[in-house]
Amino acid sequence: MTIPEFQQHKRDNKKLIVVTAYDALFARIVEQAGIQAILVGDSLGVVVQGKANTLSVTMDEMLYHTKLVAGAAQHALVIGDMPFMSYQAGHEDALRNAGRFLQAGAHAVKLEGGAVMADRVAAMTSVGIPVMGHLGMTPQSVHRYGGYKVQGKKSDRAQALLSDAKALEAAGAFAVVLEAMPVKLAKAITEQLTIPTIGIGAGPHCDGQVLVLYDLLGLFDEFVPKFVKPYAHLKADALQALRRYKEEVEQGKFPSDAESYH
Ligand code: KIV
Repeated sequence: MTIPEFQQHKRDNKKLIVVTAYDALFARIVEQAGIQAILVGDSLGVVVQGKANTLSVTMDEMLYHTKLVAGAAQHALVIGDMPFMSYQAGHEDALRNAGRFLQAGAHAVKLEGGAVMADRVAAMTSVGIPVMGHLGMTPQSVHRYGGYKVQGKKSDRAQALLSDAKALEAAGAFAVVLEAMPVKLAKAITEQLTIPTIGIGAGPHCDGQVLVLYDLLGLFDEFVPKFVKPYAHLKADALQALRRYKEEVEQGKFPSDAESYH
């Protein structure tokens, strides 16, 4: 999947499917499922590192996980998520750090923010770095919002988000993630942009959807937003397997002859 192919999906009215992954094993599984794009999300701060939010995730950590995913993925578009303070302080930081993602094997980067980030997005795209925007409930601004709250319910904020989306498109972003916003607003943004919108908690009218892998697999259940649908219950399966293993070792049933060398 290339950036032009990704964008063509919108023109062809075909849904784009994106999930996060953080390692080679899951990158391969995601690709085997035919998923078109993998986001190495800074959500790894929460689901892999066990932190309360994404703010402490570093560039080095993101690059490590990006290398694992990009090294394993053969067909999917790999998007590296720029962590907090890797692009906010200035153009030069943003360009250098975005470049490091591409050197680690990503095909594109994602950053949070609207019109305020438009110049930065333009600077990156002008040197050949594809950028995905991210609007709505942007997790790196969790403290400004006072928690993980739906954005754009009131008309002035909804208008601002629509302008942000247009600013990102004008700056050259190849797509934009819309997170936790009313269905009607996400629909309006999707209709008014020529670039694809990828929704997460933004309803069914977006051009594609993204979910955090461990949420959709039912592995992470500490904080499950309304927009998550668990398509499997891997935490329950893992618990059951581990309890059985413990029990069988305690009872002398494992290892049996079948698992032993003679
Ligand atoms: O970090 C992440 O996984 C994300 C997605 C939830 C869009 O930004």
